[in-house]
Amino acid sequence: MLELRDITRAYELGGERAGVFGVSLELPAGSLAVVAGPSGSGKTTLLQVAGLLDEPDSGQVLLEGREVSRLPEKARCALRLSRLGFVFQGFNLVPVLTARENVLLPLQLQGRPEGECTARAEDLLERVGLGNRAGHLPGQLSGGQQQRVAIARALAGDPCLVLADEPTANLDHAHGEPLMDLLAELARERGAAFLVASHDPRVIARADRVFRLEDGRMEGVHG
Ligand SMILES: Nc1ncnc2c1ncn2[C@@H]1O[C@H](COP(=O)(O)OP(=O)(O)OP(=O)(O)O)[C@@H](O)[C@H]1O
Ligand SMILES: [Mg+2]
Repeated sequence: MLELRDITRAYELGGERAGVFGVSLELPAGSLAVVAGPSGSGKTTLLQVAGLLDEPDSGQVLLEGREVSRLPEKARCALRLSRLGFVFQGFNLVPVLTARENVLLPLQLQGRPEGECTARAEDLLERVGLGNRAGHLPGQLSGGQQQRVAIARALAGDPCLVLADEPTANLDHAHGEPLMDLLAELARERGAAFLVASHDPRVIARADRVFRLEDGRMEGVHG
């Protein structure tokens, strides 16, 4: 599903070199993997490369067997819309749109028929347990509920890969753990690969596979 081969993305700032260096990983369909490591170890940098939001200095990103890291921006943008889903720490929902409209957004951008979009959005909100909150604005939802809307939105376009950067960082225990269980279930059920950046041990405990980064280098793989 996703394969990173010897990825280097370096930032030079004030004589210091940071980023990720020579990182390789493989992520099969239907699995939930966590990129773990302390603050500054390169988790977000790696996710941005895997999510085609940033180009590596060297190395390859293979998505469904195809090298995609050096496609022109327009082609990468099209791939992000059609094959990838994103969940961020701060939820990133559009505040003036309802939960339903937020989930509809990527579907409408994909140009799917209106009726299909609406049915799919309703189904996904139901699936993440928010069928009765579809008409609420993000500001009328709890943090955990907003994050579930963000997950429904990330899954809306039927992605093969979902990238989530610290998705539980703004949630307390009571919300963070069920959210990870939901992600693990959805990975299996939808056959998509989930790559989650986190240093939260409760998140790491739920992963099928853990990639441990230290100072931008892969220090170990578990699972
Ligand atoms: N745009 C940038 N310009 C310069 N340096 C950067 C840039 N982005 C990240 N870095 C550096 O690269 C390193 C890795 O950063 P990254 O954001 O990937 O870490 P992280 O593991 O996600 O950390 P955190 O857990 O705090 O989110 C850090 O030393 C950071 O300062
Ligand atoms: Mg980060």
